[in-house]
This record gives sequence, structure tokens and C-alpha cells, in this order.
Amino acid sequence: MEKIVILTGAGISAESGLGTFRDEGGLWSQHRIEDVATPEGFARDPALVHGFYNARRVQAAQAAPNPAHEALARLQRDHSGEVVIVTQNVDGLHEAGGAQGVIHMHGELAGALCAFCGHRWRAPDEMSVNEPCPVCHGPGGRPDVVWFGEIPYHMETILEHLAQADLFAAIGTSGNVYPAAGFVEEARAAGAHTVELNLEPSAVVSRFGETRFGPASQTVPAWVGELLGRAG
Ligand code: APR
Repeated sequence: MEKIVILTGAGISAESGLGTFRDEGGLWSQHRIEDVATPEGFARDPALVHGFYNARRVQAAQAAPNPAHEALARLQRDHSGEVVIVTQNVDGLHEAGGAQGVIHMHGELAGALCAFCGHRWRAPDEMSVNEPCPVCHGPGGRPDVVWFGEIPYHMETILEHLAQADLFAAIGTSGNVYPAAGFVEEARAAGAHTVELNLEPSAVVSRFGETRFGPASQTVPAWVGELLGRAG
């Protein structure tokens, strides 16, 4: 019963129309990370940060899952062993494509977090400065996403899954941001076969036993088809 652990990044949602970060014209060429994706940036100009995430939240809600998201959901349904999807993405396209139990290590655009009391609730389409918390009623509402300098979510669970992996795949991620970029090492230490499915080689491509280059909407369905076909 082969356990499969999959890490996805912005590249899997690119063909759904959502921008990646480090590609030509990506989000980090339009905005400074320190202004829109750090706690300091939020403290300095919460309106700018809410504006950045409000725009992404509305865009993500209008996007549709692509064949790559749908293929991973099929793999979860039809593979005999456990298939765990860990994503760095904050969009909901894995779930929209039918995936279950997706682990969002960088949080979710659909979530709001109270910086004062820690309460989480479903974010409104547009969050505003001093967004009131429905529980403590303080003005601490912020996007429930993990900013640079903050601790990614669910790391203990993720490392447990990686320690049990027989097969690890990284899809649509540039391998620039840790701890996600180090997951391939954890999988290798567990003796897993490792495969990178990406448009171009990532920063950690040399650590993978197998690489498949091309757009995710083509490479992922083909890869899933082989895995399920092999299972016979
Ligand atoms: N199919 C497959 N891969 C693609 C496609 C596509 N259609 N389009 C782009 N890619 C690949 C790019 O080649 C690149 O390697 O997706 C990767 C996207 O890399 P990044 O933009 O760096 O996104 P990601 O790796 O998810 O960033 C990780 O950095 O800024 C933080 O929190 C943010 O979660 C994000 C993290």
C-alpha cells in the first residue's frame, strides 16, 4: 500500500489563471515582499496588505481547478494507499478539484485570523483595516496566511507524512522557500522515490530521482495515469 506525499506550489494553479511569485511578471515583481507579505509590512500599512490579499482572494474565488488539480483528486480516490497533498498555495483549487484533507502550510486566502485572540473565521471577500474579530471584537482581523518570518502551519504532521512516504512528488514549486524546499530531503531520508513535475528545473531539482518537465495540466494527469495504470 504505497503512501504518496505530494507538495504543490503556485505553478499548479498557473493554468487556472492565478499568478505565480517568481516567474517573469510574477507577484514578487509587482509587489515588494516586505510590504505585503511580512508582519512588519502589515503593521506599517494594513490597508496595502488587505488590498493585496483582497484582490487575490477575489481572483482565486473566480478561478477554476485545472486538470492537474483534478488528477490529484483522482489519485486520492483511486490509489490503494494513502495520498497526502501538502500545498504552499493559499487558493482553494485543490478542494475545488475534489481533493480531500489538503494541508495548507501557508494558510488560506479564504481564512481570517484574529491577531489578538487567535480566533479563525471565514474571511469576507474584502477585509478592511481594523477588521473586527467576531469573538473578541478587537480590530485584529488579518488574512490567515503565513507571512515571511512566521512559522508555517502543520509542520509536525507534514514531517510525519514525509517520514512514511514511499513516493514524494513536488509539483509547480521553484524550491526557493524553506521549509517546503527541504521536503525532498526528508522524503529521501525515508527511502522514498522522489519526482519533480515542473515547467522548468527548480532550485532543488538535483535532489530528485526523477524529473518531468512541462505544464502541470499535461504532466500531472499523465503521471497519475501511469501510477493508477501501473497499479493495474
Ligand atoms: N506548470 C507547472 N509548473 C509551472 C507552471 C505550469 N503551468 N507555471 C509555472 N510553473 C513553475 C515555475 O517554473 C516555478 O518553478 O512553478 C514554480 C512557481 O515558483 P514560485 O513562483 O516561486 O512559487 P512557489 O514555489 O509556490 O513559492 C513558494 O513562496 O512567496 C512564497 O508563500 C509564497 O507559497 C509561496 C512560496
